[in-house]
Amino acid sequence: MLKNHNCGELGAKHIEREVTLAGWVHRRRDHGGLVFIDLRDRSGLVQVVFNPETSPASHVVARELRNEYVLMVTGQVSGRPAGTENPRMATGEIEVLVKHAEILNPSKTPPFYINEEVEVDEALRLQYRYLDLRRPRMQDNLTLRYRITKFIRDFLDEKDFIEIETPILIKSTPEGARDYLVPSRLYPGKFYALPQSPQQLKQLLMVAGYERYFQIARCFRDEDLRADRQPEFTQLDLEMSFVNEEEDILILMEELFVEMVARLTPEKKVNRPFPRLPYREVMLKYGSDKPDLRYGLDISDISDLVKDSEFGVFSRAVSEGGYVRAFTATGCAGYSRRQLDELGELARTYGASGVITISLQAPEVAGIGGLESLTQEMVRSAAARFLSLDLVKSVARRSGAAPGDLIIIVAGPQIIVERTLGSLRQEMAGRLGLLDPDVFSFAFVVGFPLLEWKEQESRWEPMHHMFTTPQEGQIPLLDSDPGKVQGKHYDLVCNGYELGGGSIRIHTRELQEKIFGLLGYSPEDAHERFGHMLDAFEYGAPPHGGIAFGLDRVAMIMAGAPNIREVIPFPKTQSATDLMTDSPSSVPEQQLAELHIKIAGE
Ligand code: AMO
Repeated sequence: MLKNHNCGELGAKHIEREVTLAGWVHRRRDHGGLVFIDLRDRSGLVQVVFNPETSPASHVVARELRNEYVLMVTGQVSGRPAGTENPRMATGEIEVLVKHAEILNPSKTPPFYINEEVEVDEALRLQYRYLDLRRPRMQDNLTLRYRITKFIRDFLDEKDFIEIETPILIKSTPEGARDYLVPSRLYPGKFYALPQSPQQLKQLLMVAGYERYFQIARCFRDEDLRADRQPEFTQLDLEMSFVNEEEDILILMEELFVEMVARLTPEKKVNRPFPRLPYREVMLKYGSDKPDLRYGLDISDISDLVKDSEFGVFSRAVSEGGYVRAFTATGCAGYSRRQLDELGELARTYGASGVITISLQAPEVAGIGGLESLTQEMVRSAAARFLSLDLVKSVARRSGAAPGDLIIIVAGPQIIVERTLGSLRQEMAGRLGLLDPDVFSFAFVVGFPLLEWKEQESRWEPMHHMFTTPQEGQIPLLDSDPGKVQGKHYDLVCNGYELGGGSIRIHTRELQEKIFGLLGYSPEDAHERFGHMLDAFEYGAPPHGGIAFGLDRVAMIMAGAPNIREVIPFPKTQSATDLMTDSPSSVPEQQLAELHIKIAGE
């Protein structure tokens, strides 16, 4: 090796030792005579000193050095002179007095600073990702990601799981997104699909008798991208046979996450047990199926209170089958016109016609609080003249508001009201400083409907996927009222993100065929696409269930990163391009011809 020590591991115990180091020039300071270099490798930084008197040859090398040059030095570790120690640097007690130096490779001036935590345009970072990945923050993120994966492997190994790889070139596995297709050269007009998840294969591994499987699996979904979505991402995918109920999986997941956080990010607080929250309850209280539970700001339904109100926005919403719901932003009664307008604008981006706010002014005389002392003069609202004092009081009581608070109300169709209030709740939590970065608030959302009615296409779609089994005793409802059937499906959520989802599976041909039928597949279609699953269920398929969570999202949350690109070495942009290799890109005609592909319009 060109080095016998790492920069960041040196300390007082190495004093007097001769060491050879290799790394990158992180920072260079020329003090006329002495030249100081902070040399960086993956382990950290150490100061190396070039002295023209003790080593003139290496000092000549030092004068040539620029940031990011690759450098090898041999020198003696020495305690820093009293008063020059740097307590902010892990190796700040010592320095290396260089005897010999060699430039292994020079570097052009990088397009952005590697050595400072400055904001750099993300497009530039992605174009020069190999330089971005040199930055200590990215190295920390990827190291944490590695430790997460290692922890998961060790944890599941202890629990008797084995890791099995499933193929990347497969037949489509629908998970609700569009497939990435791979044309077959050997079979003109035929395609493989890249897996959206290993769902079917892991179920087949259960039929094959493996009982406890896991995989760190790459998945591919051609869908609209967001901060927590990439076209190519990684799941921790697992499946277990002979599970009796959802709890068998949830208990295991809870243990994994609690132990992983304790081991890898012990400074974070984790709740335990993770609450099991019914889907309908979280949609009402938090307006989201992935609620952020670090704070309250609970939403209440006030439809019954306002249904006969003179205020048309309220009464009309209810008479048209919709809802009126509200939450209280504590201490925000003093919000300005502009601040209230911003909330209205946000609401409109979620499809609502706006928000109605009621601000309950704090009483003039301190100490006289409580709703009892509320007077009409203390009520500020665009709808004030339609709202009796009694009605305001009952709305305030229901939503837990007191003088000094702002009640935020949205009226309209259920989906819009939920989505809008869910986002306003998160927005207000941010403004009120309630998003504690040191808390992980985990929960399982359970009791999802099995199916969702797609109005536009007039058909049922699975809420999770088509292999999820209905709750006990609800199978007859599949014929009479499919929308009422709940699935044995659970999601793991944390701080407003869905980390994972899974279910207990169907394991009989009869029930699986019934579900395919409900989803609109003819028996021929079902056989053509999923014949292998249906057949397998006839050869002794054990009861089984599993879960998958997004490793990128887990790493993002644990690293405190704002999006998953920060924990993926080579991610795509929000528009699914790779700026470093310039992909997707054209390919030579010849390659297309081999694949029997003609580009439409050319
Ligand atoms: P699901 O589709 O819920 O379930 O996916 C599981 C988890 O994978 C992560 N995830 C993503 N992460 C980044 N980018 C994406 N585009 C993306 N899509 C999903 C999320 C999500 O919770 N086969 C089932 C699992 C099962 O039933 O066992 C499945 O894939 O964190």
